Amino acid sequence: MIKCVDLKKVYSEGNNQVIALNGISLSVEKGEFVVIRGKSGCGKSTLLNMLGLIDKPTSGDILFEENSILSISEKEKARFRNKRIGYIFQSFYLDPAYSAMQNVEIPLVISGIQRDVRRQMAEEALKAVGMDSRGRTPAGALSGGEKQRICIARALVNNPDIILADEPCGSLDSQNTKQVMEILSKIHETGVTILMVTHSEEDARYASRRILMEDGRITEG
Ligand SMILES: Nc1ncnc2c1ncn2[C@@H]1O[C@H](COP(=O)(O)OP(=O)(O)O)[C@@H](O)[C@H]1O
Ligand SMILES: [Mg+2]
Repeated sequence: MIKCVDLKKVYSEGNNQVIALNGISLSVEKGEFVVIRGKSGCGKSTLLNMLGLIDKPTSGDILFEENSILSISEKEKARFRNKRIGYIFQSFYLDPAYSAMQNVEIPLVISGIQRDVRRQMAEEALKAVGMDSRGRTPAGALSGGEKQRICIARALVNNPDIILADEPCGSLDSQNTKQVMEILSKIHETGVTILMVTHSEEDARYASRRILMEDGRITEG
């Protein structure tokens, strides 16, 4: 489904260069739940940002269903991200003033889906994360665990080909972590492909395949 080939990313800060990715080759097949584990600073977020087309690699290629997606225009990239990738962040990025439902609807507004269809799709996504009774609550009034469940619903709502999750439980306590990981597992069981990065060995247990990253390289898996 998604594949990267010898991906490198070098950040320049004045005279200093940070090699965040040092030749990552990886492929994720349809239906997998892959977890990449690694210590803070090893390049996990950088890798997901490249795969999510949020930032460009210094060299290497990213293929989606065998086609390179690095050379497409910014407009096509935005459309690709919107339709085919669901992204979950550690720090949520919800609009606190919007209701949970409105936050979930954002990707659908961007893809130009009609209001009534949008509502129905958002309701379904909220149900999938057990938040259907909280649709009207402003996102800012929800707990951390609830916020992350709303983010999962938002990532899921456009029926993406793959969900990219960047330390989704990084700011949650153990009880909420367990709940969020179980929801991700359930979503995976319905056939959604997931690539998650985490520093937590425990969260990695939910994966169908585990990979270890160190200093911008894959060292296991
Ligand atoms: N925008 C940036 N500018 C400069 N250095 C960066 C930038 N983003 C990340 N880095 C550096 O790249 C390395 C990998 O960072 P990151 O991908 O965030 O790691 P992780 O998510 O595994 O904690 C770190 O050394 C980090 O300081
Ligand atoms: Mg990170």
